[in-house]
Amino acid sequence: MQLTEAKRNATFRIRRGTMQRDTAKELLYKYVKGENYRAHSLMVEAIMRKLAAELEPENIELWGIVGLLHDLDEESCDWASDMAVHGPASVEILKKEGLGDDVLYNAIRAHNPLNGYNAGTNLEYACLAADPMSGFIAAIAKGYPDKKVASVKETSILKRFKEQRFAQGASRPYMLSIEKTGMPLETFARLALEALVEAADDVGL
Ligand SMILES: [Fe+2]
Repeated sequence: MQLTEAKRNATFRIRRGTMQRDTAKELLYKYVKGENYRAHSLMVEAIMRKLAAELEPENIELWGIVGLLHDLDEESCDWASDMAVHGPASVEILKKEGLGDDVLYNAIRAHNPLNGYNAGTNLEYACLAADPMSGFIAAIAKGYPDKKVASVKETSILKRFKEQRFAQGASRPYMLSIEKTGMPLETFARLALEALVEAADDVGL
C-alpha cells in the first residue's frame, strides 16, 4: 500500500520522536567497532549534553544524540581519500536505518565543513566546536603524570589553546565557532572539562 505524503511525514515525526539515546548508542556500536572512536563519540556526547543544558535545555537528548552519531561513518566511508564524504555518509546510514531528520542530519554534516555544509544554528556550531575540544582536552590530560582528565585545569586549556604547535589536529577555528552561539571560549572550556570529568569512567579518561 502506498503511503500518502501526510502519512509518510507523520511516520517520520514519530521516528524522530522515538529516537532515544539507547537507539543512537546501538547504532554507534553497530557501525563503529574501534574502542577509541566509540570513546570519542561518548566524549562528544557528554560535551554536547553539557552545552545543551546551557544553550538549549529543552533539547538535551537531541544534542547528545548528535554527539553520539556525528562520526557514525568513521569506519565505513573512505574519508582518508576524500574528506568530503565524511558526514554525508553518516546521513546515508541513518536514512537507510529509517532514523533521524534534517536537524540531526545537518548537525552531523556541519561538524565537517570540508563536505561543503557550513554550520548556521547553535546545535551545528556546538557540534563543530565540541568535536575537536574533546580530543584537545584528552591530549592535555595525557601530559599529566596520572593522565587523568580530573587533573586538567580550565586555565591549562586556555593556555594550550594559544600554543599552535600543541595538538595541531584540534582545529582552533572550529573550537572558536562556539562563540557564534554567544558562549565565550572560557565558558566552553569550563563546561567541556566538567563534562569530560563527569564522563571519565565511561570514556577511559
Ligand atoms: Fe568526531
